[in-house]
Parts: sequence; C-alpha cells; structure tokens
Amino acid sequence: METSIATAIAHPNIALIKYWGDREPRLRLPANGSISMNLAGLTTRTRVSFDDALSSDELILNGAPAHGEALERAGLVLERLRQMTGVRRYARVESVNNFPMGAGVASSASAFAALALAASKAAGLELDESELSRLARLGSGSACRSVPGGYVEWLAGTSDEDSYAYSIAPPEHWALADCIAIVSRAHKQVVSRQGHVLAATSPIQAARLADTPRRLSWCRSAILERDFEALAEIAELDSNLMHAVMLTSTPRLLYWQPATLALMQAVVEWRGAGLPVFYTIDAGPNVHVICPAETAEQVASRLKEIPGVQEVLTALTGGAARLE
Ligand code: PMV
Repeated sequence: METSIATAIAHPNIALIKYWGDREPRLRLPANGSISMNLAGLTTRTRVSFDDALSSDELILNGAPAHGEALERAGLVLERLRQMTGVRRYARVESVNNFPMGAGVASSASAFAALALAASKAAGLELDESELSRLARLGSGSACRSVPGGYVEWLAGTSDEDSYAYSIAPPEHWALADCIAIVSRAHKQVVSRQGHVLAATSPIQAARLADTPRRLSWCRSAILERDFEALAEIAELDSNLMHAVMLTSTPRLLYWQPATLALMQAVVEWRGAGLPVFYTIDAGPNVHVICPAETAEQVASRLKEIPGVQEVLTALTGGAARLE
C-alpha cells in the first residue's frame, strides 16, 4: 500500500479592497479584484496523506472529524488534484489552527491555502504559485490570496486560468500590524458563501463594481509608496462600500453590533488626532484596526478600553504559504 504525505502552513489574510460577489460561484470567479495583507503569527497547519486504503476523503479539523460543507469544500480541491494527476486515491486531511475558530478571524483562507500546497505536494505535483493560488480559490475565494506572501492582489480574471493572486510587495516592504478587536465569538449567521450570492441583489453593487479599478490602483500605489494616509482613506471607503452593499441586499445583511460602530468612530477620531490608524471590517462584527507595527501595542491597549471589546489579537504582515 502506498501513502504520500506532505504538511504545509499558511496565514489568514485581511482584505484592504474586498471581494464581495461572484461572477461564477462554482469556480469562485469573483465579481471584482481584491487586495489583502497576510497575517503573521496566525496559522493553519495542514497535513495531507493520500492513502490507497481510504475509500473516501477524510477531514479532521482541530482534532475532530468534520463532515458536511467543510469536507465537501476540501473535496473540491482534492478532486481537482485527482483530475490533474489521473490517480484516484483518497486523502486524509488533518488541519489545526493556532487561533480559535469563531474568534472572528476567518480560517477558510489559511485552511484552503495550506490544503492546496500540502495536497499538491502529497499528490506528487510541483505547482507554481499561480497554479496553487487557483487551486486554493476552489475551496474559498479569499484563500487564493493566502498563497503568495505579504501584500497580495487577486486578479479577478475571466476564467479559472487567469483568476489568481500574486504578491504586490513582500512582508518586509512595510511593517504594518492588524489589531483585531474581537466583539463577538459567535459564528456568523450568514456565511460569506451565501453573502456573495446576495451581493447582486443590492442596487449599490453595480456602482461598487464600476468603481473597483480606481480603488485597486489607489490601494496598489498606496502600498508601493508606503503612503499610510492614502491606504487609510481607500481601505475605509472600500470596507464601507462593501457593508453598504450588504445592508442593501435582499435579504439585508447587517453584521455590525453596537461595539463595531463604537470602534469605527473611535478609530476615525484617533486618526483625526494624529494617530496613524484605520479600520476595515469583513463579514462579521469584529473590527480589524491597521496601524504601523511600532504603534501596535499602543493601539491594542486603547482598543481594549472600548466597552464591548473582549480581546485584541495582533498580527504583523505575514509571508507566503510554505511546506514544512
Ligand atoms: O473567501 P470568502 O468566500 O470567505 O469571502 C471573503 C469575503 C470577505 O472576507 C468579506 C472579503 C474578502 O475579500 O476577504
């Protein structure tokens, strides 16, 4: 009996220009391009073993067998690899996050980036970065951005072949930090996969999409020029636009809680008083507060004082997915 094993590590990422809405949901081709930074320190470690003795794929998440949607989505990545190699062998996938699930940091991006890398290696393939990014995209769109390192752009593309992410700049280009203010650990009621479907029901989505090339180029330049003020402006605008689409979808999606709004207001006030800081919010109530790495400690302690903040996780700019 033959077994082939590989282990990979990947980081989650925070989007500065958000992906919201699919042009093609099955292949997760996004309605718009997006830009993110990887989050160092937070990791998913995934071990994949293809094994002749298995009669189906198996998934063990943080030590417990997983079924249903999580297993199905892992199966999409594994099935694509079986098509590529022509070898019909099933896999056991063991995945562990070093950050708690439901702590407000989406684990699907790091999980599918690590799975794509470990599984392709275990299947005997040497895929390049864009091929790995495309493979990770099949499990979760934003996962394609956790394959390259540092500051990353996902090119929306027109097909499976040209929808992948690349690195705009490595982590050491700009030492930023993401101080994640956790206001709720509850699992979100509407997961992003369902949210993407609702995006097109908002009359604001068309305007958001039409303006995306401008925001992408603004964000790309701000990163390349290390222009914090410009990045702050564009990232807050983009987050607000996505939440405007969410709020005006049918049915409506409102992810914020009172503490979310209090954090948004505090961050804008601090910036007005000279502290370099801005917020961005994904499909949940927790607030990602971005600042230069050297001010992260000060920002985290200010955030902890805001009523409703349960915990603050701090992450610096992270590298690419890697084999262990
Ligand atoms: O990759 P998904 O399907 O979990 O969608 C991610 C959606 C947002 O986190 C809200 C935005 C983004 O670009 O990461």
